Amino acid sequence: MGCNSSKGTGVEENNTGNPKEAVKIVFLLGGPGSGKGTVAEKIVETYGFQHISTGDLLRDEVKAGTPLGKQVGEIMSSGGLVPVDTTMDILKAAMEKALQGEKKPTGFLIDGFPRETSQIAAFQNKIGRDCNIVLYLDAPEDVMVKRLLNRGLTSGRADDNEASIKLRLTTYNDKTAPVISHYEAKGMTRKIDASGTVDEVWSTANGYLLAL
Ligand code: AP5
Repeated sequence: MGCNSSKGTGVEENNTGNPKEAVKIVFLLGGPGSGKGTVAEKIVETYGFQHISTGDLLRDEVKAGTPLGKQVGEIMSSGGLVPVDTTMDILKAAMEKALQGEKKPTGFLIDGFPRETSQIAAFQNKIGRDCNIVLYLDAPEDVMVKRLLNRGLTSGRADDNEASIKLRLTTYNDKTAPVISHYEAKGMTRKIDASGTVDEVWSTANGYLLAL
């Protein structure tokens, strides 16, 4: 685990100094439509981790209709990435809120983050440590596009249309794939074939989490 010094977020190693007993942090990455949100539900059910999706947090900001939300909404519809400082502030606030709740989470499942390499350093800087592992959902583009177009029939998401999906895929290949390579080089990436059924994806993810 790549733990650094704590910045008082409460996710540092506990006072036994045993990283096995610390709050776990799992990053969940994969292309648009790879099934991050879907497998996240199973992980949360089984492990009681706090699920934090940066996409969901940003959509909440858009719904709130604030000036920031308007800017964020435009970026999301264009398939680009929201600036690192904005994303990091929103993520940190969500983690702190979860830690202040009655039941401290055993872990965080952070979905859709880090999405570009600058977010890796931003997380370590603001949270004071790195993740334990990265679950990487790997699916072919045609599978992801099909899933998203199908979801787009009912989702109401402004970015579930052919043009936005194309741009999201380009952003993913240009900006997020290097994050996965970064963690791969550190031996922290756990690759999952995400083209199978939901149960198959979950079963592989569970195997990795059991070993955590
Ligand atoms: P985000 O909300 O993270 O969207 P995304 O990465 O494009 O992924 P999706 O939520 O669309 O798909 P998913 O992988 O969760 O798949 P799901 O389980 O829903 O981000 C949206 C935008 O926010 C970004 O483009 C960016 O602008 C901004 N943003 C977010 N995070 C950011 C960050 N860190 N920094 C900067 N900007 C950020 O499944 C999709 C469909 O497939 C569903 O219908 C589902 O039922 C189906 N499905 C899932 N798994 C399977 C399966 N195994 N078999 C068959 N169907 C399946």
